[in-house]
Amino acid sequence: MAESMAGLKRTHRCTEVSEANIGQQITVMGWVQKSRNKGGIIFTDLRDRSGIIQIIFEVGEGDEFVDEATYAKAEGIRSEYVIAVTGKVIKRGGAANENLKTGTIEVRANSLRVLSEALTPPFPIEADSKTKEDIRLKYRYLDLRRPDIQKNLIMRSQVVGKIRNFLTDEGFLEIETPILCKSTPEGARDYLVPSRVHPGNFYALPQSPQLFKQLLMCSGYDRYYQIAKCFRDEDLRADRQPEFTQVDMELSFVDVDDVIDVNERLIKKIFKETIDVDVTLPIQRMTWNEAMNRFGSDKPDTRFGMELTDVSETVKNSEFVVFKSALENGGSVRGINVEGQAEMPRKKIDALVEFAKGYGAKGLAYLCVNSDGTYKSSFAKFLTEEELANLVKAMNGKAGDLLLFAADKNKVVFDVLGALRIEVAKQLDMIDNTKFNFLWVTEFPLLEWDEEEKRFVAVHHPFTMPMDEDLPLLDTDPGAVRAKAYDIVLNGTELGGGSVRIHQSDVQELMFEKIGFTKEEAYERFSFLLDAFKYGVPPHAGLAFGLDRIIMLMTGAESIRDVMAFPKVKDASCLLSNAPGTVDVKQLEELCIKVDLPAETEE
Ligand code: AMO
Ligand code: AMP
Repeated sequence: MAESMAGLKRTHRCTEVSEANIGQQITVMGWVQKSRNKGGIIFTDLRDRSGIIQIIFEVGEGDEFVDEATYAKAEGIRSEYVIAVTGKVIKRGGAANENLKTGTIEVRANSLRVLSEALTPPFPIEADSKTKEDIRLKYRYLDLRRPDIQKNLIMRSQVVGKIRNFLTDEGFLEIETPILCKSTPEGARDYLVPSRVHPGNFYALPQSPQLFKQLLMCSGYDRYYQIAKCFRDEDLRADRQPEFTQVDMELSFVDVDDVIDVNERLIKKIFKETIDVDVTLPIQRMTWNEAMNRFGSDKPDTRFGMELTDVSETVKNSEFVVFKSALENGGSVRGINVEGQAEMPRKKIDALVEFAKGYGAKGLAYLCVNSDGTYKSSFAKFLTEEELANLVKAMNGKAGDLLLFAADKNKVVFDVLGALRIEVAKQLDMIDNTKFNFLWVTEFPLLEWDEEEKRFVAVHHPFTMPMDEDLPLLDTDPGAVRAKAYDIVLNGTELGGGSVRIHQSDVQELMFEKIGFTKEEAYERFSFLLDAFKYGVPPHAGLAFGLDRIIMLMTGAESIRDVMAFPKVKDASCLLSNAPGTVDVKQLEELCIKVDLPAETEE
């Protein structure tokens, strides 16, 4: 019995109606949140994306009442029916509902249309859902009706609007770049799209618009931006999706400070205007080296202390083999001081040891400084009294503190203590969730040694410029070269990253040589960029933010899935549409593709 809305026009969204409309006739349309029949009077909560308003149906004469037939119709409405109501706005008869924006008013209906009936939804449409995420994602179109997800997507839209306005005002042009691209190895795994016209050939979906935006600089578009979809076939986590959105930009005739300046102002504006958070400029900058040494991470959460201390010097003569062998192998011994936690139960400490092992540690050495000055420790017996006292002193340890140490190659020590620091802070509730701590991490290493491939690989990407003063090292000590690369970090999450690009062909060639590409190989992959550079290339630099991550942190969502309309789950599938799926044999034949599944996945 679905009715049409012919002749009716919505006058307001539900919460656009206010006390200012008292006495007026209005028409609202939306979904029934709930409807209670109190015998002779029906109270219906009507919901649209703006929120809820209360409707009253009662039989009587005049524009505040409905006739018998309409009343009967109102008796039949159920949750999630889509209805249109015309009625008169009045001051609420009963007590005001402080939980509703429209809590001081109600609409006394004089007409009702049922635009659509609805099945009972598999879960209630309400905030703070307790429903399992798998179910919510399967019925995402219902989940998206819930006010907390709606709030997130509305904020996302507002932020994108503000970003567009800001960048346009700053002289940026929005330019789209292709989605069907050429595969350019380096970085994450590509998503491939087979070509029908060129059998055996594949497009790759872009991991980012990197090469195209650099070409746009060669073409003189000076300041470019794009809200760009990016695709990466990588293992998913709470802050990673196979397709995600970047706020991508590139600028010509600039250096590091120019990129940082415009982006700081952008961040300040969107945080102030959207969630009323004041970001103090300039945002703190920290070199990669300092970030690693102090926090064991290139994206440190600076909302709490518990920084790392290098105690290699202090323990270098000790007889404890774990420390000794780490140092002999060029590694280090570092620790964190978990203040006041000397009494942590053994079981909890053991759990921390296991946690550390998950990050590659061979073990975790601990030392509790008891209140009587004695120690409870997994390794004290290997150290002299004096060595122990020096170690505690180096750690700024005092009675009641728990000291945790990792000894290994630097990379492992940083990984372990960086992660442990955050885990302990979470367990002990040390993190102030009201803080928004921004940080630029600068001077990243240009290259890192890949043990598997036995070659250097670019830390950011192969077009990143070395720091001027480190250029000579590129030939002699490539691992020590720092890059003009920067990341912006918020509360321990990498929000964005970028770099100044190489625009001189000799430096670019040297860079390719260092990452093990011959000139021919480099040309095969990037010829269009390298050729373009021969026709006049301006110095340029850029950055890309992960839009989903920004919105996740602004809304306080726990996962980027909560700020994307149709996200994918851990195995990169879509529970709503069941993508990816098999395709018709005919489609495969057109593409000259034969599927050859490994034995274990054959059905
Ligand atoms: P980068 O690879 O650092 O740089 O990516 C920039 C930002 O994109 C976000 N991001 C992701 N968000 C969700 N899911 C993912 N799988 C994912 N991967 C990355 C992060 C990250 O900081 N072209 C360069 C930028 C440049 O140099 O200008 C680039 O893509 O927030
Ligand atoms: P073991 O002599 O192997 O029992 O180790 C003594 C203590 O050192 C135990 O608490 C181990 O967890 C710890 N340990 C082992 N390897 C390391 C390491 N690489 N870094 C820090 N502590 C370790």
